[in-house]
Amino acid sequence: MKKFVVKYGGSIQKDEQTRENLLEEIAYFAKSGDKWAVVHGGGSEISHWLARVGHASDFKNGQRITDELTLAVAEMVLGGRVGKSIMRELEKQGAKAVSISGEDHGLLLATPFDQGIYGHVGEVKAIDTSLITLLWDAGYIPVIAPLGVDEERNVYNINADVAAGHIAGALAADMLILATDVPGVKESPDSLYAIPELTVTAAKQMIKDGRAVGGMIPKLESAIQAMDGGVKIVVIASGKEQGLIDQILRGQRIGTRIVQDKEGSVHHA
Ligand SMILES: Nc1ncnc2c1ncn2[C@@H]1O[C@H](COP(=O)(O)OP(=O)(O)OP(=O)(O)O)[C@@H](O)[C@H]1O
Ligand SMILES: [Mg+2]
Repeated sequence: MKKFVVKYGGSIQKDEQTRENLLEEIAYFAKSGDKWAVVHGGGSEISHWLARVGHASDFKNGQRITDELTLAVAEMVLGGRVGKSIMRELEKQGAKAVSISGEDHGLLLATPFDQGIYGHVGEVKAIDTSLITLLWDAGYIPVIAPLGVDEERNVYNINADVAAGHIAGALAADMLILATDVPGVKESPDSLYAIPELTVTAAKQMIKDGRAVGGMIPKLESAIQAMDGGVKIVVIASGKEQGLIDQILRGQRIGTRIVQDKEGSVHHA
């Protein structure tokens, strides 16, 4: 029995075909008896609903600056429409799925990230995997919204990549797949091709020297976090790719694979 965590990026949730393909694959592979969990983002949907109430979206280093109203909208959108619609699609594809949030029974225990700058953005302090394993044991695919709570049960908005990296690490998952809207990590946001393999040190360097910006920063941090937690394989790839999961499971080269530093090698991305 293997454990898989897929982060389903908010950037690819709008496209019907992508949505069906990716969730159909997850529903299919979950039938084999392996354990699958989905952590979802919802960036564009949150921005859409914020705009509807006349509120701007503001980001810094790939994190959404979260005031009171933004937190309320994020909670409604992530824990409501986005999570439930992913769950419904998985059910349509024949899987048993339950949509939960990191708030539930303190699954994602959080502390303020940097309140002065980011407001109600949370940093992950601990993961309680008991609800996930309970659902797994009963044959469900947990669909997890990236929200967290502190000990007093205040709510926090947590970047979905960051949440997925911690969850995968805490589960000691065999694989973490970060499915997004680009083919992988590229030398710069506007280059065409994904770097096939990136060591942890090279990934850190890309953040430091500004080749990875915006949403790629928490994605690389998530990958590193997962590797530290003992996740064997981390892949950042395009969720728009038909048969993405099948290709990854067959060991085909797709997207960017994050790997541990190789002893004695010179690192460059
Ligand atoms: N070096 C890089 N290589 C590839 N993409 C990069 C790089 N640096 C920055 N990016 C940006 O990262 C984006 C992906 O992160 P983004 O947060 O936008 O999507 P997501 O994580 O899939 O969605 P959500 O945050 O809603 O879950 C890409 O669309 C690209 O613009
Ligand atoms: Mg993102």
